[in-house]
Amino acid sequence: MKGIVLAGGNGTRLHPLTLSVSKQLMPIYDKPMVYYPLSTLIAAGIHEILIISTPEDLPLFERLLGNGSQWGCAFSYAEQAEPKGLAEAFIIGESFIGESSVALVLGDNLFHGGKLSEQLSALNKIEGGHIFAYQVKDPERYGVVEFDQSNRILSIEEKPKQPKSSFVVPGIYFYDNTVIQKAKGLRPSKRGELEITDINKSYLAEQRLSLTPLDQESAWLDTGTLESLMEASQYVQALQSRQGILVGSPEVAAYTSKAISLKQLLEIANKFSYTPYGEAIKKVANR
Ligand code: DAU
Repeated sequence: MKGIVLAGGNGTRLHPLTLSVSKQLMPIYDKPMVYYPLSTLIAAGIHEILIISTPEDLPLFERLLGNGSQWGCAFSYAEQAEPKGLAEAFIIGESFIGESSVALVLGDNLFHGGKLSEQLSALNKIEGGHIFAYQVKDPERYGVVEFDQSNRILSIEEKPKQPKSSFVVPGIYFYDNTVIQKAKGLRPSKRGELEITDINKSYLAEQRLSLTPLDQESAWLDTGTLESLMEASQYVQALQSRQGILVGSPEVAAYTSKAISLKQLLEIANKFSYTPYGEAIKKVANR
């Protein structure tokens, strides 16, 4: 299983914050936003990862994340010239994906807790597609999924005016290798994008799309607006100071998924020992 972090787009809703810096590099409390989705993939044991961003921002991601070897991973980079839709990630990533299956995570989505890592790791040998569902009070802003008591999907719609359910599809998706051909066969939607919802509909039509509702202990935060950006920072700050844990740390994710050893984790902690972040890594290591 390979992974893609999609971290492009214009970030227009956050202007002027994002006029000169990519949205996915904005801080969520003590780390850049992209650390969170990246950690989600790493914790699930996905260590070969492609980061996609705009031609202007990609060098900044490379400077931040390097080749991944510091976290026992292998990172590659690719440009998305224009924000033509989430599903374009599989066309841009075709040679990176090769013959593998692939997980896509959106660079502005934050997942935490519950049984998430185990749920994601279990998708390692996927046939078809797999999505998650999360209950929200404003489903019309997202991809909406309707399903029955045995988690059989009945419908999926992108930003419907009259949602058929209050469950939406968060920005983490698992697919087998046929996703590349599916993406290539898509036509742009009314908003001019290659829609991830159309990929999901295509798997659904083949009866090869499965779903897991995120358990109630898991949190999904989308950081697309100023309010949600602030809320995400407060959420992370509250959890970290209350529980003495680190949320969204690639170092800790790499250690728990056995990509790096305890010795390597301590070396990284020492490198950052002049910050609360380094101190927090050290605490995790010493546990
Ligand atoms: O957050 C989950 C939702 O993400 C799903 O429920 C929807 O089904 C899915 O379509 C998507 O919703 P949005 O349309 O609101 O996504 P947005 O345009 O905000 O893009 C999500 C992230 O992906 C954002 O950080 C920018 C980045 N992006 C977006 C596009 C369209 C790219 O990197 N490239 C793109 O072409």
